[in-house]
Amino acid sequence: MTTKSALYKNLLTDIENIIDDSVPTFTNLGNITALVKERFKWFWVGFYKVNGEELILDAFQGSPACVKIAKGKGVCGKSWKENKSFIVKDVSLFKGHIACNPNSKSEIVIPIFNKRKEVVYVLDIDHDKINAFNKEDEINLRLINKLILEIV
Ligand code: SME
Repeated sequence: MTTKSALYKNLLTDIENIIDDSVPTFTNLGNITALVKERFKWFWVGFYKVNGEELILDAFQGSPACVKIAKGKGVCGKSWKENKSFIVKDVSLFKGHIACNPNSKSEIVIPIFNKRKEVVYVLDIDHDKINAFNKEDEINLRLINKLILEIV
């Protein structure tokens, strides 16, 4: 059986190798969401991009999702506003959670910082089962930020 840590190790290497700084950021983020979704078979994987006072849906894999999220709203808007990751074990218990799809039961959101330490994206991953994410996911997914620092 492949362990989660082995999957992450391979995933992070593959992300590092797939990034091409001669193409638009959207292209690279699209490939990253594809790799993450393919490896873990998660329900939804996507980036929201900071644009003024709201987040706009950017590269993603999965079913159609909400296109705009105001700063401080939902898990994504809160992650941006508070500069921190959120692991939501049960979305029905998270006050203000934005349900883009009723099949999403738990989620993890990671803020993505640029070199000036400003949040420029959030990475949002949804699962169709409750309690799917833990600290191991947070630690590994945060490492993606290091790999994309030069392109965000
Ligand atoms: N659930 C998120 C909204 C984005 S979707 O899950 C793709 C939130 O509460 O911010």
